[in-house]
Amino acid sequence: MTSRSLLLAIGLVATTSLVAAGPCDIYASGNTPCIAAHSTTRALYNAYTGALYQVKRGSDNTTTNIAPKSAGGVANAAAQDSFCASTTCLITIIYDQSGRENHLYQAPPGGFNGPDANGYDNFASAIGAPVTLNGQKAYGVFISPGTGYRNNKVSGSAVGDQPEGMYAVLDGTHYNGACCFDYGNAETNNLDTGNGHMEAIYYGDNTVWGSGSGNGPWIMADLENGLFSGVNVKNNAGDPSQSARFLNAIIKGEPGRWAIRGGNAASGSLSTYYNGARPNANGYNPMSKEGAIILGIGGDNSNGAQGTFYEGVMTSGYPSDATENSVQANIVAAKYATTSLTSGAALTVGKSVSLKVTTPGYDTRYLAHSGSTVNTQVVSSSSSTALKQQASWTVRTGLGNSGCLSFESVDTPGSYIRHNNFALLLNAGDGSKQFNEDATFCPQTSLNSAGTHSIRAWGYPTRFFRHYSNTGYIASNGGVHTFDAATSFNNDASFVVGAGFA
Ligand code: AHR
Ligand code: AHR
Ligand code: AHR
Repeated sequence: MTSRSLLLAIGLVATTSLVAAGPCDIYASGNTPCIAAHSTTRALYNAYTGALYQVKRGSDNTTTNIAPKSAGGVANAAAQDSFCASTTCLITIIYDQSGRENHLYQAPPGGFNGPDANGYDNFASAIGAPVTLNGQKAYGVFISPGTGYRNNKVSGSAVGDQPEGMYAVLDGTHYNGACCFDYGNAETNNLDTGNGHMEAIYYGDNTVWGSGSGNGPWIMADLENGLFSGVNVKNNAGDPSQSARFLNAIIKGEPGRWAIRGGNAASGSLSTYYNGARPNANGYNPMSKEGAIILGIGGDNSNGAQGTFYEGVMTSGYPSDATENSVQANIVAAKYATTSLTSGAALTVGKSVSLKVTTPGYDTRYLAHSGSTVNTQVVSSSSSTALKQQASWTVRTGLGNSGCLSFESVDTPGSYIRHNNFALLLNAGDGSKQFNEDATFCPQTSLNSAGTHSIRAWGYPTRFFRHYSNTGYIASNGGVHTFDAATSFNNDASFVVGAGFA
């Protein structure tokens, strides 16, 4: 190579890395390198080509890894779609891209037990949080109550009062008030070991400990036995309620000081909501960080919360605001955007539909209700008007998410199919966030070939309308309940959606 072409080549490399530097390249150049980098949507280093996450499918319980389409690029969602075609898929591992192998696995039982037989938390559905990045499809991690990930043996994370930083890109519209939708540093034994033993991003509208201004949700710090918005235990009016669909949430801490920052992950810059002294309650100065990493749960495995995670990192050292501002610019340039939550033939809002069972031996039955019980009943053109109405549902825009649908009873207007404790019920709408979310379902192409649609629960995307013993549930494929049985799952969870009887 001539010296001129060498210079050109170096120039090219320098320009490319400047243009394409990933979040962790930016943190490294700020001398606060990532010790963990987690994302199911994209590579967080410009040279990263390894696995982003592992999915496991329901049809044969085999797994595959999903990698970026190119170095530094967006996840290969098409590979997931083809691996998961006509079955269900779970996100079983979220890999660490830093090289330290700080992967996130199914969270083990702790002070609180998870829902599986051994007390572990549930895995997230692989399809609950579809998005696009620069127009290319990818999937985030949709955390329902009972879902969580953890690593208790992390290499390189902050312990004691050591400095660290972290960010997470979240769905700002997916939250609740339960404890605790977190991403960050937590106990290594799954137990609440005392004040100052955690330092994690919290997102939600829990007000048991602290809060910000308005009604929430807020970005706060989970420092154990408290969600903090500032120096006071209770309230920091400078920590605003959030509403951006894509939210960049930041927490960082060093001896005697910590900060909360945040901003719209799809446009604009970051704001600082708190930057100052450690909380003035006992045990938070100095900190006693332990160095595990959690996602979607509290330090003691409190797992009642919900939220959606797209990408996030943990750093060694306290990142400068300037470094974080550059990371924000990189995230904005990744162009997160929403995409359809449904698939299959579109169901028309305002039309009456029926849902015909497809399981062989049961396929004269339709989804119907008897009082508040949702079940399947044999219905035909010669059935009574009352029965025809019980088996007919008016399609409505999703009460809890306008990208999905709700099903209003034809004979009991104002009452909708909702799930409660995973059983389908017909209940009068009460306008609450919980009811609206429980009554929101996302139709997709049916799991079997006899049906037209499978109907996914928006808030529990591992779960679908299913009849079991002729009763309606939201069931997951091979989950913990009797009605989750893997046997006959695809057939029981596939329906022919046709014209209503009434
Ligand atoms: O700090 C809030 C929560 O309190 C923690 O996440 C959990 O460990 C404890 O229950
Ligand atoms: O059906 C699952 C959950 O059970 C619902 O979201 C909630 O209303 C109930 O606790
Ligand atoms: O709902 C009828 C049948 O009950 C389902 O097909 C089967 O899975 C269960 O035993």
